[in-house]
Amino acid sequence: MTVPPNDHAAPSKRQQLKMTAAFLADLYSAKARTRWAAYVRGNPLARATLRPWRGDPYRQYEILRARGPLVPGLDPDAVATVSHSMCKQVLKHRSFGTDGREGVGKDAAEFNLSLLEMDPPDHTRVRRFAAPAFTPRRMAVYAESIEQLVGRLVNDALTKGRFDLQKEISAPLPISVISELLGVPDADYEVFTQYGAVLGGALDGIQSLRHGRQALQARARLGRMFDRLIEERRTDPRDDLLTVLAQNEDEAIRPEEMLPLCTLLLVAGFETTVNLIGNAVHQLMRHRDQWDLLTADPSLAGQAIEETLRYDPPIQLTSRICKADTEIDGIPIKRGTWVVTVIGGANRDPEAFPDPARFDITRTDNTDHLAFSSGIHYCIGAPLAKLEAEAALRVIAERMPDLRIAGKVPMRGSTIVHGVRELPVSAGRRASLAT
Ligand code: HEM
Repeated sequence: MTVPPNDHAAPSKRQQLKMTAAFLADLYSAKARTRWAAYVRGNPLARATLRPWRGDPYRQYEILRARGPLVPGLDPDAVATVSHSMCKQVLKHRSFGTDGREGVGKDAAEFNLSLLEMDPPDHTRVRRFAAPAFTPRRMAVYAESIEQLVGRLVNDALTKGRFDLQKEISAPLPISVISELLGVPDADYEVFTQYGAVLGGALDGIQSLRHGRQALQARARLGRMFDRLIEERRTDPRDDLLTVLAQNEDEAIRPEEMLPLCTLLLVAGFETTVNLIGNAVHQLMRHRDQWDLLTADPSLAGQAIEETLRYDPPIQLTSRICKADTEIDGIPIKRGTWVVTVIGGANRDPEAFPDPARFDITRTDNTDHLAFSSGIHYCIGAPLAKLEAEAALRVIAERMPDLRIAGKVPMRGSTIVHGVRELPVSAGRRASLAT
């Protein structure tokens, strides 16, 4: 599906027809290839992307690991790795880039992913303007309002007794925080959740015509919103990230780079953190002994988040293209090869983490996980995500020690963004409202 990268207007009928035809051809050939590989050839990489295996892709990653550090990918020009050493080197190596990102999620490449698909020097130029919003000093400023917000959300959820943790706590928290940081007023969390799911899902490639339409609409609406806000900030500067970006447009950030950057910051700012909180609580519910450790000592929340990032990361994979023939761990990689770095698999590599399939919140040997990637694209929002998730988990453990799963837990329909769609829970007997 070819979409002009920065078209904020809804596409015309003619454009839509052309896009539809090209899209259907792409979609069905790609889907058929993946299904053939998964069902007929039993390819673990293909299986990890499909519904029956998606909830627990880790078993497929172990099959890949047994085959070696670099295995053929789903496309002829792609290879994949679950080796921690190989992933880390590829992510850091100068011979690899993201420019014109393709590989897994080809359709998504037609949505401009801003920094995520830029190489130096452009990447360095643009990243410089967003980075100061995420320094430790800024984190200290956000910490207090995050704490208050978490307290309010937990109180509201508790009045319900049984509730969907994703809807009541995991989603509204990061949406409020990133909206405030950027300077998006009156963020409507229902609408943003939907945009996040649609655009986050687009990283895997557009799944259907409906998904394509939704993604175009979400992008167009966000585009109009950001155009208006940037215009306002030029004449009425405030203490927010949009003002910093608006003041640097033209000189440092090109006008066509602006909307993709704002959209990335907004969507990456909540779409991933929602899943970090959800995955942490989900794993703690599945490993009750670890939950008991946490409720006995809620100050372990930071370590529990670190272990979730290793054990069940919200982003399962990314990819890089090889720009010059090179060799990693003695294995030659040819220019033009896409390497799919399977973060979820690397984080369970026994060479990097002892007893990797054990979820243990008291671990101290887990910080070298790749949940936030590595190298120049290392997640800009990592400190913010940790701050939010740690606060949420600590308060949940303190105030709902008897928390239980109270229904079926549906998984999200994405391969790259990994998490639960809903997390129905009951707060239990000893739940306490804050005064
Ligand atoms: C648990 C939460 C999060 C996870 C797991 C996560 C994960 C990642 C990963 C894996 C990448 C690099 C992808 C690659 O190497 O191809 C990345 C990049 C990025 N993340 Fe996050 N992220 C999280 C939260 C956030 C937050 C809160 C923000 C805030 C705005 C954010 C903004 C970004 C941006 C702007 C980039 C692009 C950096 C670059 O390309 O230089 N992320 N994130």
